[in-house]
Amino acid sequence: MQAARVEQSFYEPVQAELQELQRRLIEVGAGAHPTFRAAVRHLFTSSGKLLRPTLVFLASRFGPGDDREIVLNLAQSLELVHTASLVHDDIVDRADLRRNVPTINATWNDDVALIVGDYLFAKAYALAAVLPKPEVIAMVAQTVFALCDGELREVTAPAALPTESAYFERIELKTASLYAACCQGAALLADAEPEHVAVLGAYGTDLGLAFQITDDVLDLVGDEEDFGKSVGRDLAEGMATLPMIYAATGDPSLAARIVAPGKDPTEVRELLRVIRASDGVGRAREKALAFHDRAVRALDGLPPLPERDALRDVADFVVSRVR
Ligand code: FPP
Ligand code: MG
Repeated sequence: MQAARVEQSFYEPVQAELQELQRRLIEVGAGAHPTFRAAVRHLFTSSGKLLRPTLVFLASRFGPGDDREIVLNLAQSLELVHTASLVHDDIVDRADLRRNVPTINATWNDDVALIVGDYLFAKAYALAAVLPKPEVIAMVAQTVFALCDGELREVTAPAALPTESAYFERIELKTASLYAACCQGAALLADAEPEHVAVLGAYGTDLGLAFQITDDVLDLVGDEEDFGKSVGRDLAEGMATLPMIYAATGDPSLAARIVAPGKDPTEVRELLRVIRASDGVGRAREKALAFHDRAVRALDGLPPLPERDALRDVADFVVSRVR
């Protein structure tokens, strides 16, 4: 287990499942093409925070169903959807660093990264296809639609400052939909009460929104070593995120500079200075906290199990993290 995972107490109730999941993730490449095997080793020996599978395992405890294998399948499937989407996103972003290691596109090339992402995604769907509930299989597919829709909105966005609500719609699709699916899908598979399934879905959505806003703040103010990926990339590419929207509302000349694509490093540094000095970052952090609070309040609708406390701790971690 990596250091960060030992430090956070919310991993504790699901340590055994997480360890088994990690073992299975490393084995995803077994018997496949040597390049795919190498890419899988590269991706999963430095695996990330594993927040999504942690949510699957915690949420599955709110129902009477105790088939561990089914829940592991969902966790692995959704973690593979997540990883596939990041491998593809790194091509789109021309990113060379993620989780402090070179991306697949940087280590091999875009063609290899494209196919590795496809392979991971197919593997994810093969795992989902054997889940016992068709509504959960459909949910996995719907989640992939949402991710693609969110990503397409991002890559086809006009060079103009989006409204706050357009930003929220985009991040709900590209990020929060997957968090919601982890929580809701696991609760459905565990035969949880319908109102508990709904509570977990609402918690997952708000948690995902808080996560993405925090990620967008860290892209402006984070420490590269902690964050594990290059800082200022959204800004360099002209992708306006919530702190930038707040910083530039009512300032058309700043807005035009923010949304300009392909900025040179001097302009990125200067804009970073301007945005960090504005109230945009603070206001965006407040918004992330508001979603955090709503996520935590939703948990009142669940029975008082230790896993409910762990879900609250996940929410606290999501808004206080530096990586
Ligand atoms: C990272 O966000 C990207 C996403 C959350 C979604 C990416 C989705 C796709 C590429 C659609 C394809 C999906 C599949 C399953 C093949 P970000 O760019 O804000 O975060 P970052 O800073 O970590 O890159
Ligand atoms: Mg990206």
